[in-house]
Amino acid sequence: MVAALRAAVGEAQVLIGGDLSAFEQDWRKRLRGRALAVVRPRDTEEVAAVLRTCAAHGVPLVPQGGNTGLVGGSTPDESGTQVLLSLSRMNRVREVDEANLSLTVEAGCVLQTVQETAQARGLLLPLSLGAEGSCTIGGNLATNAGGTQVLRYGNARELCLGIEVVTARGEIWNGLTGLRKDNAGYDLRDLYIGSEGTLGVITAATLKLYPQPAATLTALAACETLAQAVALLQLAQARAGSALTGFEVMNAFSLALVRKHFPHLRHPLPASPWTVLIELSDAESEAHARDVLERLLETAMEDGLAGDAAVAETLSQSHDMWHLRETITLAQMEEGLNIKHDIALPVSRIPAFCEATDAALQQAFPGVRLVNFGHLGDGNLHYNLQAPEGADSAAWLREFEPRVSRSVYAAVTAAGGSISAEHGIGSAKCEELVRSKSPVALGLMRTLKQALDPSGILNPGRVLAP
Ligand code: FAD
Ligand code: MLT
Ligand code: ZN
Repeated sequence: MVAALRAAVGEAQVLIGGDLSAFEQDWRKRLRGRALAVVRPRDTEEVAAVLRTCAAHGVPLVPQGGNTGLVGGSTPDESGTQVLLSLSRMNRVREVDEANLSLTVEAGCVLQTVQETAQARGLLLPLSLGAEGSCTIGGNLATNAGGTQVLRYGNARELCLGIEVVTARGEIWNGLTGLRKDNAGYDLRDLYIGSEGTLGVITAATLKLYPQPAATLTALAACETLAQAVALLQLAQARAGSALTGFEVMNAFSLALVRKHFPHLRHPLPASPWTVLIELSDAESEAHARDVLERLLETAMEDGLAGDAAVAETLSQSHDMWHLRETITLAQMEEGLNIKHDIALPVSRIPAFCEATDAALQQAFPGVRLVNFGHLGDGNLHYNLQAPEGADSAAWLREFEPRVSRSVYAAVTAAGGSISAEHGIGSAKCEELVRSKSPVALGLMRTLKQALDPSGILNPGRVLAP
């Protein structure tokens, strides 16, 4: 089989032995697997040849892009029997169609490179996340990534017009299209998006572009309570409409962790229980955006929704504000191994949910530290947790993580929420998926899996437990 893989992609692109930790270790350092081989195809034909080889030998395969996934979906298990298919060499921009506001790129293109490709033409790819310097378009679509501009532009699914996929049998489906309307038959594109490498391998995609806004402005506001932050969101939506492109929230402890581990970063506002980051993008002018933002913040302070606020005066101040927000995940890693709950709730229920769940956790797990932040505008919280101060994180997580997460997910379900807003299921949430979905929904998912990957070679043990 290894000989067949070498014939498919070239000897140098089948890595066996040596230090493969970049492929075998997940970003959160929660999983360390062992690959039978790391295979690095150069184009779609080579991916198809690899899939045919794996199918012929019944060997499972794990697709991997930038390996920034947070739910244990992109690394092989410990058995040493899974092929790791890295798409990183497939990083060509195939076409930019400026008049159609679209571009077609290969799956291994790094998100930031694609953003820059659009920007160089005065256009915008409005998909933005903290991992954009290393995550790939293939990974973004496979996880249906969200990020910080979903409020205005939708998640990765909404930004995708067409995809190219290699099936479990090694056939190539060319579904690349720049059409914005196409109701001809079942929507195969949307079936593959968000399937986390379990139904097919995405090899290229056509993405929507937008005109770049004339101005983008950022502000921070200090709120005493989460209920005030939600009221501020309502006010911002009413005042700014579709110019509101970002609305993020951070609790005091998230920013305290950033302060502790990245002391050089500037904090424009003094610490407060909640800090909100607001971004407005304006098609007209900076003066117009500034006027809307300043008046909005004035009203918020008059109405007692915010105690203090700071509007970025320069691009560099705006970057500093975003940097604080994007650094929380890194600060959490510096603090130690941690627990993530990427949850979605109706925005209106978020304050009560947090009040009740925070209290229940503090009572059941004394000293547990809540790192609560996220995309409030989308109703998406990163309701993350850090072990108590001074505890051995690994040991604490081993003992408490299952019970902690169970109680959080039970509360999420009771509040009509989702156990995964944007990160996916991976291997980390398979059991919770079974708890949170109806037997009918799970049956339909298994039917799809069986139809598209009958031998079960595509990313086994992810999304649907075996
Ligand atoms: P990988 O991690 O390599 O893979 C992720 C999953 O997709 C795996 O199941 C893998 O098998 C599958 N996959 C990868 N490529 C393909 C392909 N070509 N075909 C089929 N399946 C494939 N996520 C968000 O949604 N929003 C955020 O705001 C966000 N912020 C983040 C911040 C940081 C600092 C980090 C580290 C991660 C963040 N993430 C966020 C999570 C992660 O970046 C996204 O899930 C991203 O979309 C993964 O892309 P990737 O290329 O790294 O995929
Ligand atoms: C983010 O939005 O920064 C990530 O999705 C959150 C996380 O790391 O939990
Ligand atoms: Zn996020």
